[in-house]
Amino acid sequence: MFIRSPKQWRFLFFGTFIGLLFIACGCACALENGLALTPPMGWNSWNKFGCDVSEKLIKETADAMVSSGMKDAGYQYIVIDDCWQVKRDDKGKIIADAERFPSGMKALANYVHSKGLKFGLYSDAGTATCQGRPGSHGFEEIDAGTYAEWGVDYLKYDWCNTDGIKQQDAYPAMRDALLKSGRKIVFSMCEWGSSQPWLWAEKVGNLWRTTGDIQDCWECKRDWGGMGWTPILDLQAGLEKYAGPGHWNDPDMLEVGNGGMTVTEYKSHFSLWCLLASPLMAGNDLRNMTPEIKEILTNKEVIALNQDKRGIQGSKIRDDGDYEVWSKPLKDGSKAVILFNRDAKKAEMKVTWEELGFKNDNAARVRDLWLHKDLGKFVNGFSTEVDPHGVVVLKVKQ
Ligand code: GLA
Repeated sequence: MFIRSPKQWRFLFFGTFIGLLFIACGCACALENGLALTPPMGWNSWNKFGCDVSEKLIKETADAMVSSGMKDAGYQYIVIDDCWQVKRDDKGKIIADAERFPSGMKALANYVHSKGLKFGLYSDAGTATCQGRPGSHGFEEIDAGTYAEWGVDYLKYDWCNTDGIKQQDAYPAMRDALLKSGRKIVFSMCEWGSSQPWLWAEKVGNLWRTTGDIQDCWECKRDWGGMGWTPILDLQAGLEKYAGPGHWNDPDMLEVGNGGMTVTEYKSHFSLWCLLASPLMAGNDLRNMTPEIKEILTNKEVIALNQDKRGIQGSKIRDDGDYEVWSKPLKDGSKAVILFNRDAKKAEMKVTWEELGFKNDNAARVRDLWLHKDLGKFVNGFSTEVDPHGVVVLKVKQ
């Protein structure tokens, strides 16, 4: 086409301008780290150890992650939460607590890497972390550079002490600094759902917290915003459409094995986190796990639901008060189903094939993922007894 008229020139000029803008925005606005294509799996120090973190704990935890079979089940990241940092040097570089981490973070990262695992740290978008350690506000590029130099693979980025700062500015600032650092670092946003990050952070974080802090209880609620896993679960319904490969809703780390709940309740908590395509960050003492807790955390059939490559977050398909049915479509065309009994007594629960988008008249194969057993072929649906506060987790294929 020859350009003859001023109109055609204008068309060419504006077309090129819009095209360039698109490319520039694509480079600057997208989270292009190619990480967390399935929900990240690992361990974080906070739920069990709080500020009591040390080089010894992290090394022993890395060892335990391997020897317990957790690494084999897919867990990868060992993340030190708050309190590893004490101050900045005169150039602004963050300094780790030399008493608790005498060999330094680089040596510790090397140790974790030598086990075939990945290493993560925590910081905060404000002036100080939630425990009063130096925050990254104004130091984003220096900190990202330091993390890259140390061999950090995962950053959890919190939201305390952020007066006058906006989530939509602070998180992209750290995302850009991490991208610029030259190292691939998973970016875990932790602003507790305060700005509804699911609406704007798809290209900013690999995962974003959706609620206040999880507590090791069935349904407790703390006045400062912490809550048990069932109130957190209730807040996830409706968020499923915002999750996908590289960008996940994060209903917070696991409490499995921390002692506040029964084995049945921990099984339910774990199963639902798997179905929600939630990041699976264990939060217990991996060095001292009972066989039951280890069995929960390493159930590869339930983990496979979480790590399914299609990356669809499961959702609640029926709510009969205390009796809920949740489902997740899987890559092979089958559906994961959780029959969840919130009641304090046993209940007979049912799912129909129609509810799953299958044909009621056709037979479907049913497998129980906690019993590790094929239950047979059924028409119309499947019904079974579910323990109080318990789940039955099924894979259904028609
Ligand atoms: C906040 C976060 C927690 C934990 C603590 C550490 O409360 O939500 O997950 O990181 O800070 O101080």
